[in-house]
Amino acid sequence: MHIAVTGASGRIGGTVAAELTARGHRVLGLDRVEPHTPVDGVDYRIGDLADLEPGDPALAGVEAVAHLGALMSWDPADADRLHHANVTATLRLIRALEGGRCKRFVLASTGEVYPENRPQYQPLDEDHPRLPTTWYGLTKVLAEEAVAFGGRANGWATVALRFSHTQHPAELLDPDSFFSGPRFFASRRHRKALAAGDTALADQLAPYAGDDRTLLVARREDGAPVQMGILAAADLAHGVVLAVEGDTTGHEVIGLGPDASTDLGDFALALAAEADLDTVEVTLPATAPSYVTGNAKARELLGFAPRIDEEEMVRQAAEAHRRRNTGTA
Ligand SMILES: NC(=O)c1ccc[n+]([C@@H]2O[C@H](COP(=O)([O-])OP(=O)(O)OC[C@H]3O[C@@H](n4cnc5c(N)ncnc54)[C@H](O)[C@@H]3O)[C@@H](O)[C@H]2O)c1
Repeated sequence: MHIAVTGASGRIGGTVAAELTARGHRVLGLDRVEPHTPVDGVDYRIGDLADLEPGDPALAGVEAVAHLGALMSWDPADADRLHHANVTATLRLIRALEGGRCKRFVLASTGEVYPENRPQYQPLDEDHPRLPTTWYGLTKVLAEEAVAFGGRANGWATVALRFSHTQHPAELLDPDSFFSGPRFFASRRHRKALAAGDTALADQLAPYAGDDRTLLVARREDGAPVQMGILAAADLAHGVVLAVEGDTTGHEVIGLGPDASTDLGDFALALAAEADLDTVEVTLPATAPSYVTGNAKARELLGFAPRIDEEEMVRQAAEAHRRRNTGTA
């Protein structure tokens, strides 16, 4: 198939583009920025999706779309930027595809639409009401509606994939990683706590400022584990490929997550043991995430089955950490 991948220069988009190309598809990669490491065989087109024209001739031959391009931010000051990147860009992409050969449209949505951090019931599934509490979550609800509408209006099969948290295992022990830095490194969590005015946590972690060898072992004050679903980027990308190649009809909403949630405290201990790092225990408020997701619908409709478990993530994270520290990355 001729497939457009938006966000093709990003963490997941690059992995999706690589797998689709390896499976013999012709891939058009759309992104605002050039890829750090271009995927062989992908035809890149650099520009803002929001600038696409209706019936864009470059997209006329596209038969399926994996729409992964988006902005992720939890800063309320980014509300307008989030709307531009996640809503306006989605509408313009739909209009650009109209009248062409598109038959399938797969959207990267997120568990933030529920939201996962405040579930009404667990395990969280696709029937949970959408009650976002962040601008990011709201823009993904609006994008889901836009894509369902685009499908109805144009006769496309559409799929909103609600991704669990996703990372390349190599990012897990990188203190500069967007997600893992503040999640696992005491130094980076200290910086985040200072910026957020959380003086109690900042004071507790002050001795670790500048120390990138100490990992946080987080527990909740109410005794619940700090836990969430973490899927390796390669597994998630494979799920996206299955959805793009799939035969679902109408509009489907499918959660893509791991088989089991990860207890971040235990996970940090395993990472520290494998990478020979130190740890410090921190107690987080009862508002810290503690949720469990399911992937039954993805298994049933897409034949999805994650292949990289926690143990393998830890092994790959430690290996990448060693390589970075010995300059062989
Ligand atoms: N990583 C996660 O844990 C996670 C979880 C849930 C959902 N998602 C969703 O998955 C998708 C991919 O996430 P990721 O982790 O690869 O993010 P990423 O930030 O690595 O990649 C997103 C890409 O989209 C591009 N982009 C943003 N706005 C654009 C625009 N207007 N026009 C063209 N390109 C634009 C960016 O340049 C970037 O390369 C996103 O839609 C995100 O909301 C990710």
